[in-house]
Amino acid sequence: MQALRERLGARRREVVAGRREAVDRQHALGKRTARERLELLLDEGSFTEIELYRRHQAHGPKLGGHRPHTDGVITGSGTIYGRRVFVYAQDFTVFGGSLGEAHAAKIHKVMDLAVDNGAPLIGLNDSGGARIQEGVMSLHGYGGIFRRIVQASGVIPQISVVLGPCAGGAAYSPALADFTFMVRDTAQMYLTGPDVVEAVSGRRVSHDELGGAGVHGSQSGVASFVYDDEADCLEDVRYLVSLLPGNNLEPPPACPPCGADSDVRPRLAEIVPVEPNRPYDMRLVIEELVDDGDFLEVHEGWARNVVCALARLDGEVVGVVANQPLVLAGVLDADAAQKAARFVRFCDAFGIPLVTLVDVPGFLPGVDQEREGIIRHGAKLLYAYCEATVPRVQVIVRKAYGGAYIVMDSRSVGTDLSLAWPTNEIAVMGAEGAVNVLFRKELATAADPATLRAELTEEYARQLVHPYYAAERGVVDDVIDPVQTRSAVARGLAMLRNKRREPPRRKHGNIPL
Ligand code: HXC
Repeated sequence: MQALRERLGARRREVVAGRREAVDRQHALGKRTARERLELLLDEGSFTEIELYRRHQAHGPKLGGHRPHTDGVITGSGTIYGRRVFVYAQDFTVFGGSLGEAHAAKIHKVMDLAVDNGAPLIGLNDSGGARIQEGVMSLHGYGGIFRRIVQASGVIPQISVVLGPCAGGAAYSPALADFTFMVRDTAQMYLTGPDVVEAVSGRRVSHDELGGAGVHGSQSGVASFVYDDEADCLEDVRYLVSLLPGNNLEPPPACPPCGADSDVRPRLAEIVPVEPNRPYDMRLVIEELVDDGDFLEVHEGWARNVVCALARLDGEVVGVVANQPLVLAGVLDADAAQKAARFVRFCDAFGIPLVTLVDVPGFLPGVDQEREGIIRHGAKLLYAYCEATVPRVQVIVRKAYGGAYIVMDSRSVGTDLSLAWPTNEIAVMGAEGAVNVLFRKELATAADPATLRAELTEEYARQLVHPYYAAERGVVDDVIDPVQTRSAVARGLAMLRNKRREPPRRKHGNIPL
């Protein structure tokens, strides 16, 4: 027994240590090894590894005689702030982290365990993609991952962290996950690499230009979070997990209440200018509303005209969706609608109440937007709100015009509680635009059109755009003092805590994708 135990210990140490030169090369590339990453991600000493000794059974060039243990992926489970998660971390030092049959089977197993145990799944990706020598079995393995991600979608939170190459179909794992993290310079995601792009289009691009964190964090919207450094990235994965339930049947992790229901925030009255067209940073409003001014913004660099963030309010996790008057005056465009729609659906799937802060001049008009499909993309956001059954509180901070008002969680699409500041302006359109349409003939024949326009505009605003118009008609529940917004939202959420609404039975809806 003693000899067997010693041999076991030596073998385990050798497998865990990996090949020295491959580890050095990984470090030289500015990347940590899979095990070093897991140490940063998980609570100290919490990792339980499974299938350490698994190795491929394939034959092929550069494969037959070379059968390293782990097969290039480390799988298992650990805890984050004491809560269970399941993980896989691809190991670039073994076959470039490429995915063959055994590698895929290990990931399948850990995904199944995550679902069976109702715990989040976190995948650390650093891989050359399908293992070329294993042919169809690599592709088959990827398909099994994609099918599992989709089946687990809305059941357990799924987080994908891209820390190296993620090429070809492999990029669909992050694309299907709930949240995708990326690190600048060392991580890339693309369906076809620079060589193929050059062969097809004649254009030479770098890996980073094609699929770096800059591209995916600010242009394509594939990356939800972008970091300069792996350690910061993994720290924020921990932060995100601390805000999420383990599964859709579990409530989000709450902290003890902190007296938000009686909190007065004088700064709120100063941040938002009364003039409807003056910009301000909506994130300052969010800071005042949430506990400790602390929130985790999703897609911070993409579609910045809408802000989506996870935070706590009186200890409870909330999802905040807010127009951002600082960017494009806070209009909704195709990207903003998609970003917010996906966030709303995530929150709804995992029982996270929604707080929607509205200050929106409308949808972005223009040929480009129409051709890009603003109708289709705007419909996604509309659909997401219409089907959401979590507690929903809307706060109309300033203006709310037209279709964009409806879409931003208005009473008509199902908000539970609609609060408005005395600065609110809710209407089909602004007073000047309305007068131009309604009184076109009168203005065309008037002796003094400018004076008439001014009079009509003032009259229209007085009748239809005053702050109590919506409250008098019950589409707004209360007009509140801005400084009491934090307490009013906290009280609203407390009132709605036991909300239960069963959607009618159906296979699934048909969201306009
Ligand atoms: C087998 C691979 C591999 C792969 C890398 N390696 N990718 N082995 N299959 N797909 C091996 C290399 O041979 C090398 O082995 C080691 O990993 C390190 O790779 P390097 O090329 O030396 O590293 P680097 O210079 O950093 O370049 C990384 C890379 C490059 C950009 C990822 O390796 C590369 O372009 N790989 C191929 C990417 C690809 O086309 N994959 C298939 C995509 S299609 P040695 O023994 O020399 O150390 C796909 C379809 C999925 O994935 C479909 C799902 C639906």
